[in-house]
Amino acid sequence: MSKADIGLIGLAVMGQNLVLNMNDNGYGVAVYNRTVQKMTDFIEGPAKGRDTIYGTQTIEELVSMLKRPRRVMLMVKAGEVVDHFIEQVLPFLEEGDIIIDGGNSHFPDSNRRAKTLAEKGILFIGAGVSGGEEGARRGPSIMPGGNEKAWPAIKDIFQDISAKTETNEACCDWVGNDGSGHYVKMVHNGIEYGDMQLIGEAYQLLKDGLGFSYPEMHEIFSKWNEGPLDSYLIEITRDILNFKDEDGVYLVEKILDSAGQKGTGKWTGISALDLGVPVTLIGEAVFARCLSAIKDERLEASKILSGPGVKFEGDKQSFVNDIEKALLFAKIISYTQGFMLMREAAKENSWTLNYGSIALMWRGGCIIRSAFLGKIKEAYDKNPELKSLLLDDYFKDVVLESQGALRRVVAKAVELGIPVPTLSTSLAFFDGYRSERLPANLLQAQRDYFGAHTYERLDKPRGQFFHTNWTGKGGNVSSSTYDV
Ligand code: 6PG
Repeated sequence: MSKADIGLIGLAVMGQNLVLNMNDNGYGVAVYNRTVQKMTDFIEGPAKGRDTIYGTQTIEELVSMLKRPRRVMLMVKAGEVVDHFIEQVLPFLEEGDIIIDGGNSHFPDSNRRAKTLAEKGILFIGAGVSGGEEGARRGPSIMPGGNEKAWPAIKDIFQDISAKTETNEACCDWVGNDGSGHYVKMVHNGIEYGDMQLIGEAYQLLKDGLGFSYPEMHEIFSKWNEGPLDSYLIEITRDILNFKDEDGVYLVEKILDSAGQKGTGKWTGISALDLGVPVTLIGEAVFARCLSAIKDERLEASKILSGPGVKFEGDKQSFVNDIEKALLFAKIISYTQGFMLMREAAKENSWTLNYGSIALMWRGGCIIRSAFLGKIKEAYDKNPELKSLLLDDYFKDVVLESQGALRRVVAKAVELGIPVPTLSTSLAFFDGYRSERLPANLLQAQRDYFGAHTYERLDKPRGQFFHTNWTGKGGNVSSSTYDV
């Protein structure tokens, strides 16, 4: 009976499509779903006529169908549900068997699971899977991490079902130990939040600032998608802007402007704060969703608080060109910050991450896929130790060339009263990052003034701390120096 190459638990939309994808690639798959009816519907529906997809009614039955080492993939809701299923599967597994969690799990959970399962001799993989329904079916981006001993046993399946670049490289490779696969997927999602917010800001500038119609915006996005912004998110935005409801009204116009979120962007922000990495663009993108979500309060405020009441005057086409460049600039900043975060997380967790390979995994299949990621891969291939994308020749030239456009866009948005939190934070980051001197000297003086927190001096070696009795009244005792 051991005939299936892999078992999959959880037949929601991602699970079903992954099973069909695996099966298309020649793998036998045993499937299980807690609600058995869902399994039967799948077997008799989308999987009908496929005699190497095996429906099972219990987890024991599912496991009994698997070749060794047994590979069990969970496609269930992140959180406790994952632990619940791991407990259900465990009694039927043997040493060397593999459990793969393909959901959007929080990386500390994957760290824990990798560790506790390793103690039981079970190899755990936390795999980020991106690309939504279509990706799962035709080729997702897959970011597997965890117990490396399991990689040879899952490599072929994962690389076969994953998306491929134009040069036929799989958008799936080994990420690293513990929860690093889910960490990288989390950062992917954070970047996704940033990209989406940037596009939203461009949309509002075009619509409210320049007064463009939907067909005109559709045209603009079509053009942008043929240039350096060429990406999945620009492409779907182009199509969304052209989509009419049954009554002929553009559907997006009727959608409530209150953003949802499941938590991965927030986790990225929290991790950035924990590690002290200035991932400002994703942070702003998360907060922009939060601000959108207080719709009732905004509605009330909109009746009381007025803006500048200024109308756009000037050359619309040249402003559209500026927005295109501004988006590219801000995108570069966002990815710079995302990669800075992964570097720090790798240091903190003793992961060895290959940034070129991460860019390659994101090059196809996933939600943030774009031509641009090819350039990031080139940058890290050239210099795997690159501290910051902004220091790579290609990206340096692009930001230097496009900063004028971004400055004009942000300035105009401020004048018009249109919120552009991610565009403007990208500029603030750039101006801060390129500053030899920031006003933190004054801040340090303030800290020392009110709390004897001490400061270092430019004219003394780093690591020596000084306290000044600023008022002549305080004592000379300094507080201990520590950094978060
Ligand atoms: C992907 C997506 C996927 C999911 C997001 C949505 O990579 O395929 O990122 O994981 O659509 O989690 O996230 P929010 O609901 O938080 O926007």
